[in-house]
Amino acid sequence: MKIAVVGTGYVGLVSAACFAELGHDVIGIDIDAKKVAMLQSGKSPIFEPGLEELIVRNLQSKRLTFTTDLVSALSNVQIVFSAVATPPGEGHKADLRAVFTVAESVATNVDHPIIFVNKSTVPVGTGKLCEEKIQKILKDRGVAFEIPVVSNPEFLREGMAVPDTMMPDRIVVGVNGDENAKKQMEELYRPITRIGKPLVWMSRESAEIVKYASNAFLATKISFINMISELSEKTGANIRDIAKGMGLDDRIGGRFLHAGIGYGGSCFPKDVKALLATGKEYDVDMSIIEATDKINMRQRKRFFDAFLKALPKNAKVAVWGLSFKPKTDDMREAPSLDLIPELLKAGHSVKVFDPAAMEVSKPLLPKETEFMNDHVSAVKDADALIVLTEWDLFRGVNLKEIKGLMKGSLLFDGRNVYEPKEVEAVGLTYRGIGIPSSL
Ligand SMILES: NC(=O)c1ccc[n+]([C@@H]2O[C@H](COP(=O)([O-])OP(=O)(O)OC[C@H]3O[C@@H](n4cnc5c(N)ncnc54)[C@H](O)[C@@H]3O)[C@@H](O)[C@H]2O)c1
Repeated sequence: MKIAVVGTGYVGLVSAACFAELGHDVIGIDIDAKKVAMLQSGKSPIFEPGLEELIVRNLQSKRLTFTTDLVSALSNVQIVFSAVATPPGEGHKADLRAVFTVAESVATNVDHPIIFVNKSTVPVGTGKLCEEKIQKILKDRGVAFEIPVVSNPEFLREGMAVPDTMMPDRIVVGVNGDENAKKQMEELYRPITRIGKPLVWMSRESAEIVKYASNAFLATKISFINMISELSEKTGANIRDIAKGMGLDDRIGGRFLHAGIGYGGSCFPKDVKALLATGKEYDVDMSIIEATDKINMRQRKRFFDAFLKALPKNAKVAVWGLSFKPKTDDMREAPSLDLIPELLKAGHSVKVFDPAAMEVSKPLLPKETEFMNDHVSAVKDADALIVLTEWDLFRGVNLKEIKGLMKGSLLFDGRNVYEPKEVEAVGLTYRGIGIPSSL
């Protein structure tokens, strides 16, 4: 099939590359000319394992191309995906300007029937609004065809985006009655449904809600275990044992039960808040989600306050991990963006290292932040080390060597990466989350 994907960010680019890998002819469109130039030369603008190989292979086979020119990209396409960002807007509602701009530009310029698929995370009712805007433009243009709007929310995880797209747990498609749209979506995803992955049909409204409900549920699981971690700390219990004891129950499951400094990233914080805004709009009590958001901020603050309190005056601090989670360079709502300015403001000096997010984070962090070439040089002469992202590299370090390089002995583990006993055996003073520790 011939498809266009508008917006080549984390979602659009991965979708475009994977659709091409699955045999479709794909054109990716973005307003960011620098990004498009990089993509045309086979370079991925984002760090995502396995993605660049897919881009290069499919550029070579000519199944994947990139452009900034939406109008020419529309010729002969059957399906247009919109995968533009929906960042928090007024009152934490999703800002839908980019989605509507794309829908309107497509309606203004397309000269044949297509299906418009919304892949961005959008509040319930957005598909209907898009369809109304599109139909109005088509009517004003006096063209005879219609453009149905389909909801196809994305569930990929950054860092796992390629396997998540090629082998998703499920594909959710919301269509309101249009049989042709259904047929085309079925054909598009056939290479994936053929390997047994379920495509779940539902109304457009349900599909729009599935995305928010899923993210809010996962965020709630994280906040739940983080709430219990505070109780664990105050009672001398161990959150790892508690999570294991809970997670082995099939009804609960062990995933998303890892205590830490809370969730960040481009999706959970904004989607939780946007769902709250939708609840308000429809007068639905969403107090569970309200608590999820509140506990998330509290958890981060509790740990950072304890760290700041434990530091000597004018301390040298090493920060390991800048991105909001491992295997990505995404810095949106990353805890490092909160902590580092606070440390500098309090008179400490800060050396940082991240395996993927160094370049991206430079413009986002204060200029006094020292960016080091590796994790080892960041800890040299440091009074304290704090781990903010659980990159594999940090799990495997030789703690004795690290202690030998440091001047002080504080290790704050914001992701419960280490065993307290092992850390303390090399002479470091450890604080994790919800686990008995010396601080
Ligand atoms: N990042 C994730 O892990 C993830 C996962 C699931 C769903 N989502 C959702 O997918 C959507 C996209 O997220 P993202 O992380 O890929 O965003 P992103 O910011 O990485 O990418 C958006 C891209 O759209 C481009 N763009 C903006 N306006 C445009 C226009 N008018 N025409 C063409 N291109 C335009 C931008 O230049 C950018 O490259 C959001 O709604 C998000 O909530 C994201």
